Amino acid sequence: MLAWHREYGDVVRLGDGPLTAHLLGHPRHAEHVLRRRHMDYDRQTRSAGAVRIVTGESLLTNDGEQWKRHRLLMQPLFNKDALGSLEAIVREATHAMIDDWLARGDVDIAAEMTRLTSTIASRAFFGIDVDEDLARLMPAILEETYARATSVFGWGRPSRTFEEACTEVRAVVERIVARGDSPLLEHLRELPADELRNEALALLLAGQDTTANALAWTFALIRDDDEPAAAVQEAMRLYPPVWIVERRAVEDDEIDGYEIPADSYVYVSPYVLHRHLEFWSDPERFDPRRFPNSGRNLAYLPFGCGPHACLGAAFAMIEAPLVVTIVRERCTISVKKERIEPKAWVTLRPRDGVSARIVAKR
Ligand code: HEM
Repeated sequence: MLAWHREYGDVVRLGDGPLTAHLLGHPRHAEHVLRRRHMDYDRQTRSAGAVRIVTGESLLTNDGEQWKRHRLLMQPLFNKDALGSLEAIVREATHAMIDDWLARGDVDIAAEMTRLTSTIASRAFFGIDVDEDLARLMPAILEETYARATSVFGWGRPSRTFEEACTEVRAVVERIVARGDSPLLEHLRELPADELRNEALALLLAGQDTTANALAWTFALIRDDDEPAAAVQEAMRLYPPVWIVERRAVEDDEIDGYEIPADSYVYVSPYVLHRHLEFWSDPERFDPRRFPNSGRNLAYLPFGCGPHACLGAAFAMIEAPLVVTIVRERCTISVKKERIEPKAWVTLRPRDGVSARIVAKR
């Protein structure tokens, strides 16, 4: 996508006919489809369709009245002021992880971050530890979700094994919701049972792999004197966990003189925006000193923008820098490979993990 952007500019049409899509490369375009004209760009897309098979309708897939109702219901619990208990949860889980690391010596930080963010998310959202079943089911579910989101033929009936895994994961989440005890759950209990389950599953899906990858990349790239919050932001600039956001044009539109026909798709790619040469100098270089000022760079959208912007942005930006701070207080990390290759999957992840040697600081 970056190569297309470099070669053809800020609007690139991909494909034709039923699969016409447009890669939009300028922050003005992101603003247009995600904020100003968001009612005209909906989520009847392949990516939302694939997620819908797993979560049913949820904040991740919905538009319109139900989305608005649920978003307004949940929003107050994800504002910075409402996240007071998160720090203690992050501290406890991170210290326990480090105790285990120091006993082991060699770890794959990417896998460790997946486990850590999962523990933190379930304790913060539901007040309990999720059962192992969820960790077992999730990778297979995400694998097929991604295949369907990206396949030209992805609209067919889901396989039986996938449907069975989805049914099982819904049952697991129903058990979590029944057992759980948290302000968020109390708040959400006013929803019908199926809507509550769908939103709980969507939160687990949205809140875990994203933050895990932001952290894995940060540990792969950070140097001794980098400030943790700035390093997390810069890692998300180079490797935005959500590397693409998809919408469908409801009606004919025009963007910067280019026709966008009704029913075609538009892609806003944070990965491409974060390397836009008009907005970033030497974009491939990891340099946390770009932040905090670059937080106001219009071409920085790791959490999206507009009404569907990430519900968990404050949550992630409390969690991730704190994990980095605690880890660096207690241990030195030597990443074994000089260069970690990305893999564009549901999230943008390190292709072969992040193998590292951990040594205690004192
Ligand atoms: C570093 C971590 C994270 C990144 C990079 C990230 C990124 C994003 C992005 C780009 C969107 C916009 C998608 C779109 O416009 O279609 C989004 C939406 C969303 N995120 Fe996050 N996210 C992160 C963490 C979280 C966490 C911790 C939660 C848990 C609360 C969460 C929950 C959501 C939800 C529910 C939405 C849908 C919001 C809506 O449509 O109203 N995310 N996220």
